[in-house]
Amino acid sequence: MKTVRFSVYRFDPSSDKKERYATYEVPYKTGMTVLDGLLYIKERLDHTLAIRYSCRMGICGSCGMTVNGLPRLACYTQVKEVGWSLKVEPLRNHPHVRDLVTNFDEFFKKHKSVKPWLVRTDSREQESPTSQYLQSDAELEKYIQFSYCISCGLCYSACPVVSSLPEFPGPQALALLYRYLADSRDQSRSERLKIVDEAVGIWRCHFAGSCSQVCPKGVDPALAIQLLRREMMRG
Ligand code: FES
Repeated sequence: MKTVRFSVYRFDPSSDKKERYATYEVPYKTGMTVLDGLLYIKERLDHTLAIRYSCRMGICGSCGMTVNGLPRLACYTQVKEVGWSLKVEPLRNHPHVRDLVTNFDEFFKKHKSVKPWLVRTDSREQESPTSQYLQSDAELEKYIQFSYCISCGLCYSACPVVSSLPEFPGPQALALLYRYLADSRDQSRSERLKIVDEAVGIWRCHFAGSCSQVCPKGVDPALAIQLLRREMMRG
């Protein structure tokens, strides 16, 4: 039977053991994902392995990890896409908690800082709606691709600016800010622009583009940042 070699990063802050890589041989099955392999390890070879996942179908965004050097969703990555020998590590740019689990507190703090919701001034209508907020297809087109973000943190993990400047908001928060700025129903344009027109705001992006390359949902945060800069210049 064909087997897949998993070399998995192990680290437990409550133990004296230093960080290390443990190797496991996992029988291959057609259609096997990286998450399937890790669950096989956890269920049959080493139940102490810590991983985070939920939906197993690329929706919840909780199974992000570094596979053979690239940030990926474990449940969305077929083993045969990446090879028969896998090095699996936690996401970069997120503090490590244990084994493959990382802490997303800072990531979600930045996410929340861009006000990822529609801001309206018609509070009475908000409380007691009398009609719908209509949008044309062209208006929808302006932001729809950026609304596909599942907040998995892969783009944040791939961003070289976050690596060197941890205060940088990161591609996910900036793309999300653009998503609401470009939405014709939103009424907080100037406040939104102020949030990122800072010394460590959108101007610090080097346009490496790695965020867009790793997004499992085809979102293009690098484009959103460029569009945001254009909006900033327009004022
Ligand atoms: S488990 Fe939900 S995206 Fe992978």
